[in-house]
Amino acid sequence: MKLFLDTGILDEVKQAAEWGILDGVTTNPTLVAKAGRGFKETVLAICDAVPNGAISAEVVATDYDTMLKEATEIASWHPNIVVKVPLIEPGVRLVSTLADRGVKTNVTLVFTLTQALLAAKAGATFISNFVGRVDDLSGDGMEAVRDTVNMVENYGYESQVLVASVRHPLHVVQALQCGAHVATMPLGVMKALFKHSLTDAGLKRFLEDWNNAGLTIF
Ligand code: G3P
Repeated sequence: MKLFLDTGILDEVKQAAEWGILDGVTTNPTLVAKAGRGFKETVLAICDAVPNGAISAEVVATDYDTMLKEATEIASWHPNIVVKVPLIEPGVRLVSTLADRGVKTNVTLVFTLTQALLAAKAGATFISNFVGRVDDLSGDGMEAVRDTVNMVENYGYESQVLVASVRHPLHVVQALQCGAHVATMPLGVMKALFKHSLTDAGLKRFLEDWNNAGLTIF
């Protein structure tokens, strides 16, 4: 499963990129607004920090013609950019157009299997199923992920299922159990994936024993 960072903050991207496990970055208008720099500047800096990663950058218009202009502009900035498009009627039409032109897309704000079907049929590269926002409303966000993975496999769609709105490591575990292709998460969640108290305690003991024995490597 690919791991994406969900952020517009360059320092966070650089940190995760150093670990050598980062496959891409997703941004959205809210995250870019929080980053405190211009949109193009933010996206290009992220592209440089993750040279082989898929970097999602979102259109903000809601009518087809303007969305297409924005998508064409954003896609021209860097070959690794994936144009993020909301699941609305002109958005699905835009994804179809961009797929015909060979432009990669990430369809966002997907909550149901029927929305995912439209994204897959339009030729979306990634389908972003939001889980946390459904869980917040006491739903089961992972249900649509499970169904979407099954749909993509059963019907042979080429879209990759991307679990978004990830709030904690259990969402990452469940994404793996569902067979999702990608999970995107904030830096805090990615850092939490490393953690186990037995790892910390075990390492402490190893180092104490080593040092007490006066051993060295060099
Ligand atoms: O980038 C889309 C998604 O991951 C947003 O997550 O936490 O705002 O629901 P959240």
